[in-house]
Amino acid sequence: MPHRILFVCLGNICRSPTAEAVVRQKAADRGIALELDSAGTGDWHLGKPPYGPMQDAALKRGYDLSPLRARQVMPQDFAAFDLIVAMDKDNRRDLMRLRGSAGAPVIVFTDYLNDPFVDHVPDPYFTRDFEGALGLIERAADGLLAQLEV
Ligand code: 4NP
Repeated sequence: MPHRILFVCLGNICRSPTAEAVVRQKAADRGIALELDSAGTGDWHLGKPPYGPMQDAALKRGYDLSPLRARQVMPQDFAAFDLIVAMDKDNRRDLMRLRGSAGAPVIVFTDYLNDPFVDHVPDPYFTRDFEGALGLIERAADGLLAQLEV
């Protein structure tokens, strides 16, 4: 079972830090020990905390994103983690290019929803739908943790 999990989006200031914090809290609630981190495929926000409106929306649901800082995915991540969870197919394509033929599997987070109509977490930096992104991330986190519990 994977227990070192890296969440990845484009900027590492909206979706993947939220996924990291949501899964961290849900795993703690269930008593599941995981090592979690998040990173971006892009390098625009290195060292920055998560985006303010994303932090505000997450905090209203009890997730504190404020300690997190953005970093970029590195080739070593594919050996340091058991599973890489991308927020959309562009992230997954970029990750597979960086990984090459060997390394941790790369999946899209919404695969855990088992919903044929949802194949990515829309980027709230552009859609401004922070609540929608949080809802999808919470549901996908439940699906991921259910798989880890079986
Ligand atoms: P994220 O959202 O990938 O969910 O962190 C983004 C935030 C900022 C940018 C892109 C995506 N940006 O281009 O600045």
